[in-house]
Amino acid sequence: MPSPVLRHQMTDDMSFSQLAWGAWRLRESADIKNTDDILALIHACLDAGITTFDHADIYGGYGCEAYFGEALAQAPDLRKRMEIVTKCDVALVKDARPEHRINHYNTSKTHILQSVENSLRNLATDHIDMLLIHRPDPLMIADEVADAFNDLRQSGKVRHFGVSNFTPSQFNLLQSRLDAPLATNQVECSVFELAPIFDGTFDQMQQNRIHPMIWSPLGGARLFNTANDVTAERVRPVLERMRNKYTLPGIAEVAIAWLLHLPCQPLPVLGTMKAHRIADATMSCRVQFDRQDWFEILVAAQGHPVP
Ligand SMILES: NC(=O)c1ccc[n+]([C@@H]2O[C@H](COP(=O)([O-])OP(=O)(O)OC[C@H]3O[C@@H](n4cnc5c(N)ncnc54)[C@H](OP(=O)(O)O)[C@@H]3O)[C@@H](O)[C@H]2O)c1
Repeated sequence: MPSPVLRHQMTDDMSFSQLAWGAWRLRESADIKNTDDILALIHACLDAGITTFDHADIYGGYGCEAYFGEALAQAPDLRKRMEIVTKCDVALVKDARPEHRINHYNTSKTHILQSVENSLRNLATDHIDMLLIHRPDPLMIADEVADAFNDLRQSGKVRHFGVSNFTPSQFNLLQSRLDAPLATNQVECSVFELAPIFDGTFDQMQQNRIHPMIWSPLGGARLFNTANDVTAERVRPVLERMRNKYTLPGIAEVAIAWLLHLPCQPLPVLGTMKAHRIADATMSCRVQFDRQDWFEILVAAQGHPVP
């Protein structure tokens, strides 16, 4: 049976799968004991039609890219079947970075270029498909970022560029200095985080026909931990009802289908480390959401009716 996961054109020459998979929890998950477990997850994604893999230099205390790369080095042919996204600019105080005295952001050209070199080496690849500026840096000089992007594109080390957690005005500022369009803005959105639906972030994406990527689409497991979480307690019964109506494996798939229904056509990034949940998540892509069902979930999420 063909995968229900659509592909979205992110740039003139690059498409991403409608669902992506994210490596943030790779080093902390009890399900991942070795590189064979990572390869099994990669295969689960590819078999499900999920070809877009989301990383950041900092994940796992600067350790996730290398763990993933170690797995990829055992099966290098897989690289051709995937798009790799990674991020730079967040600088954390970690053993791996003794020069950092305080957590901060760094969008200097030197830092961006060095971060990409590290990511290429760690990920065991010769190019990154999309590089994102991870968080808005109050000291960002847009001309300097543009200069770094130009060098990276010309050297073939990075194919396309985007941002993460940017406001529309921060997005516009950086875009104003670039030769090529920014390809995405990766932001948090879920029944727990509605801001980008209402603050202009997704309006800007739809206006420019850009597909945003969505992080923590399940609120980072908050959906399943209802103890003293009033939003989760309000939303869960509604999602359970919809799960039956749309014959989905679980409430996670309803929550993802709810995001996929947004007109900016976002790409949720799945954070699960369980292969069976990756396969289940693809069922979200089959749902044709009824408008009033969609609003029922919105009302439960925000805790009040629409005006
Ligand atoms: N750009 C940014 O600033 C930023 C920030 C944070 C994250 N991200 C990206 O977004 C990705 C996803 O974020 P996330 O991990 O928070 O996503 P998420 O999908 O909202 O949460 C994943 C968590 O939910 C659990 N989970 C999933 N399905 C479940 C189910 N049916 N029942 C119980 N638990 C379930 C997972 O545990 P199991 O492994 O046990 O399934 C995992 O702990 C990250 O990997 C990263 O790539 C980006």
